[in-house]
Amino acid sequence: MTEVAVQVLRKVGGNCGIPLKFETSLVGGVAIDRVGSPLPPPVLEKAKKADAVLLGAVGGPKWDNLPHAKRPEQALLRLRSGLTLFANLRPAKVFKPLIDASSLKPEVVDGIDLLIVRELTGGIYFGKPRGLVKEKGKRSGFNTEIYDEKEIERIGRIAFEAASKRTKKVTSVDKANILESSILWREVMTEVGKDYSGVKLDHMYVDNCAMQLVRNPRHFDVIVTSNLFGDILSDEAAMLTGSIGMLPSASLGEVKNSLGYPRGMYEPIHGTAPDIAGKGLANPLATILSCAMLLRYSVGAEEGARKIEEAVEKVLSHGFRTADIAKKGEKVVSTGEIGEAVLERL
Ligand code: IPM
Ligand code: MG
Repeated sequence: MTEVAVQVLRKVGGNCGIPLKFETSLVGGVAIDRVGSPLPPPVLEKAKKADAVLLGAVGGPKWDNLPHAKRPEQALLRLRSGLTLFANLRPAKVFKPLIDASSLKPEVVDGIDLLIVRELTGGIYFGKPRGLVKEKGKRSGFNTEIYDEKEIERIGRIAFEAASKRTKKVTSVDKANILESSILWREVMTEVGKDYSGVKLDHMYVDNCAMQLVRNPRHFDVIVTSNLFGDILSDEAAMLTGSIGMLPSASLGEVKNSLGYPRGMYEPIHGTAPDIAGKGLANPLATILSCAMLLRYSVGAEEGARKIEEAVEKVLSHGFRTADIAKKGEKVVSTGEIGEAVLERL
């Protein structure tokens, strides 16, 4: 999957006169097997020096019973926090040829084009104290949802900036009727919003947002939300578009790379699918579309990014389908075949 994505990047980079260089490192399950750590320290150092990181999926049932600190997912969390990638951009857009692949009615999903801006290095994922304890024979587990105003402000600005280039609407999602961290979230978002007079801000409780996403998804342009809420809502938004196998993501911070653009990490929003691993069944389009985001944000090659997106659209309208997006009776192609089809159209 990641191989075909790298081929796509090489080809587009070459076509745009941007020769890209690649280095490969192991993280997650395979790194645990080889060197006993989901993110070996030299890998983080290498990632820090890179202009951008393209990440493959990291887990599998084989590693599910390891203690928390040793699980493959830690690779992801440590990369995000080690590279201070606080802004996770997850666009969800319906591809016309796939409109029937959604579990919702075509008239509901037609025209969906939203962007979830998920805070990625704070909130309950990283908050302390956290733990599992046993006291007087009874076990407890606890975590901390915490945001300071600086963290909220910087993710807010990313969302407002993004919205100013789109349809100029931000929906800030929280649970301010219950959580203090959300009360602050709402206050700070409102303050930040004052700097962007051309952008409309509304606030929505997360439960309502989950409902509105399936009821009237075209209501949304940019959604800005916390780490945990963003995790959940982005899976939901993905399903609106038919397949989680289609959606890319970009994680950005404040650090600039050697090209003067934000250093970022790019990955599909789907995780691993151990049941189909190695069978050539997986849909590589989310990873390929993540390469488009990589070119757009970390290389400044907008034209190359568009070329990849157009090639993916063509492949879909020419009827290529992996199993996850095929309707009953449609011909299913392999990971390699659909990847090859994209390469041919570049
Ligand atoms: C995601 C994933 C990760 C997350 C997991 C694999 C740690 O679900 O990127 O959405 O929860 O952030
Ligand atoms: Mg998730």
